[in-house]
Amino acid sequence: MAAPGENLRINPDRLWDSLMEMAKIGPGVAGGNNRQTLTDEDGEGRHLFKRWCEAAGLEVAVDRMGTMFARREGTDPDVLPVYVGSHLDTQPTGGKFDGVLGVLGGLEVIRTLDDLGIRTKHPIVVTNWTNEEGTRFAPAMLASGVFAGVHEQDWAYDRKDAKGKRFGDELERIGWKGDEPVGERRMKAFFELHIEQGPILEDEGIDIGVVTHGQGLKWLQVTLTGKESHTGSTPMPKRRNAGLGMARITEMAHEVAMDYQPDAVGAIGHMEVYPNSRNIIAGRTVFTIDIRSPEKEVLDAMDQRIREGIELICEALDIKYEIEQVGHFDPVTFDETCVKAVRDAAERLGYTHRNIVSGAGHDACWINRVAPTAMVFCPCVDGLSHNEAEDISKEWAAAGADVLFHAVVETAEIVP
Ligand code: GLV
Ligand code: MN
Ligand code: MN
Repeated sequence: MAAPGENLRINPDRLWDSLMEMAKIGPGVAGGNNRQTLTDEDGEGRHLFKRWCEAAGLEVAVDRMGTMFARREGTDPDVLPVYVGSHLDTQPTGGKFDGVLGVLGGLEVIRTLDDLGIRTKHPIVVTNWTNEEGTRFAPAMLASGVFAGVHEQDWAYDRKDAKGKRFGDELERIGWKGDEPVGERRMKAFFELHIEQGPILEDEGIDIGVVTHGQGLKWLQVTLTGKESHTGSTPMPKRRNAGLGMARITEMAHEVAMDYQPDAVGAIGHMEVYPNSRNIIAGRTVFTIDIRSPEKEVLDAMDQRIREGIELICEALDIKYEIEQVGHFDPVTFDETCVKAVRDAAERLGYTHRNIVSGAGHDACWINRVAPTAMVFCPCVDGLSHNEAEDISKEWAAAGADVLFHAVVETAEIVP
């Protein structure tokens, strides 16, 4: 298989301009983005991406989960396409690059092929997966999970946001529920470019992370029920304080993760307090414990210890608890051949690189179950992500997209 020549590069200015143009849709309050899944802003971002794809001569299809597939034909009608992409949805206080770089990096691959007049044997399909973030509708990576057969489509449609709105209804409302059955596409390979979302590459001054593994995750959503009562007149021994329960569980989950250093992590990022009044002891709290580890045994051990801890804490405070697992994936090992294509591309282009484990979840983690998959990481400033201040340089974005281009094009096979 002929590798593309090392002189072939994407257009850094065009990629950057597209990233900045997309970031104008659903601006955040502090320079980032709030383009949460299935909001009007998500719909607007999709329209812009579709216009760009069509301008590049791609045919855009949409499946029943709203995932967008933009296809550039190959020269051989009988071979499987190479897929590339990520997500355009953001956190409520998200950055401009998480996910977006992988989608627009994929589009830049196509635009560069067009500039250079290169045909490939295999078609190339740029993909925007619906609801990667999982912030509005848990779990994360919902559409890629349905695609990979991990979740039922009807179960996904029934997922509700904090206001009780259903995923399926919101998908229809924004006009992006397509006709195509989910998960029937077969892929030669899937490649996802993403910012690292951690500090390793920047600290070590390395251009490219060759992602060999993804760490596993569990999301345990806990509901504590105590009793609403007056903060001033309820004697301390008579309180059934669901807020105190949440505080103790927050501490406990942190301690459990600390017991499995250096690799495990754990935190509670989602917290709701009811009725959330200054002078009412919280009668109910709902929150999600997010635990992660690259080792399945560790993840399972943390899960068990946290469940035992919750039982003890609630017993002592005389409050009830329910635990619902609202997200889960086991640690992932990416495909050797695809990983090699990424490493070889970085090497050929003269970029410094190292192997790396993804701390975040990605659509690639699910797609890896149904297609050979790999990821490319580029650094981000201070390792910061899921924050409006998330930032990368144009050079970092370009290096990542160059490596993506080479890995994808080598896999899709240039037609001489
Ligand atoms: C997805 O963004 C996750 O890692 O939570
Ligand atoms: Mn992401
Ligand atoms: Mn994210």
